Amino acid sequence: MKALIPAAGHGTRFAPWTTLIPKEMLPVGSRPAIALIVDEAIEAGADEVVIITSPEKPLLKKWFEKEPPKAKLTWVDQIDRHGLGHAVLQAAEIFENEKDPILILLGDALVSGGNASAEMMKVSRENNGASVIGCEEVPRERVSRYGIMKMAEGSFDGRVFTLEDIVEKPSLEEAPSNIAVAGRYLLDPAVFSYLKDQRAGVGGEIQLTDAIRRMLAEKKVFGYVYPGKRHDIGNPQGYFKALEAMGENS
Ligand code: G1P
Repeated sequence: MKALIPAAGHGTRFAPWTTLIPKEMLPVGSRPAIALIVDEAIEAGADEVVIITSPEKPLLKKWFEKEPPKAKLTWVDQIDRHGLGHAVLQAAEIFENEKDPILILLGDALVSGGNASAEMMKVSRENNGASVIGCEEVPRERVSRYGIMKMAEGSFDGRVFTLEDIVEKPSLEEAPSNIAVAGRYLLDPAVFSYLKDQRAGVGGEIQLTDAIRRMLAEKKVFGYVYPGKRHDIGNPQGYFKALEAMGENS
């Protein structure tokens, strides 16, 4: 299985720190956040991890030269930045002919309390290798910050559900639920054929959510409210929470 970590963002919510040190390099205990995410992918079964990064962030590569991971690492540079969908698309050549679902781990999302990716792999295997999107419940007033899931009626068993629709950053009125995409995806490689001609959506950015939405016409996708807790290290508050939850164990 191959994994993909988009990690090319500027980290504007944690400036000026992140203009000097990439957010993925912030220490969580003795290691940078990106190393914990690579570990999660490898523990979940990835034998190759592709990191999408920017030439302005050489520290990421330098870390892994000092501490090589137990899987092949491949680096892809993203020069222009037009959103998460655009970042993922940079690795199209590596992934589009894969048979198995692709594990995508957002480089600014750490998960404590278990390996969310490994749990998602299990859910996928139980459902004929279908796509699985890692989710969390968010307060209603925050739905406009996330990709929001619409569950197929009667499909929710408390953790797993069939995805009927997905909307990126909807208004409170438009949001079909308060179940949000939470930094982890296991996606059928078919998603690349949709990303290739995906038009810009919310914020003028090419959204991965919009490509998944179109893929729903062809492929079954499950949502999975994973048991762990996501920490958004792209802002100081989220980073402190990650330190509290994970600092000692890394
Ligand atoms: C991205 C995704 C969004 C998801 C969020 C948290 O948004 O586009 O669907 O809910 O990550 O995983 P961003 O935080 O980059 O705006």
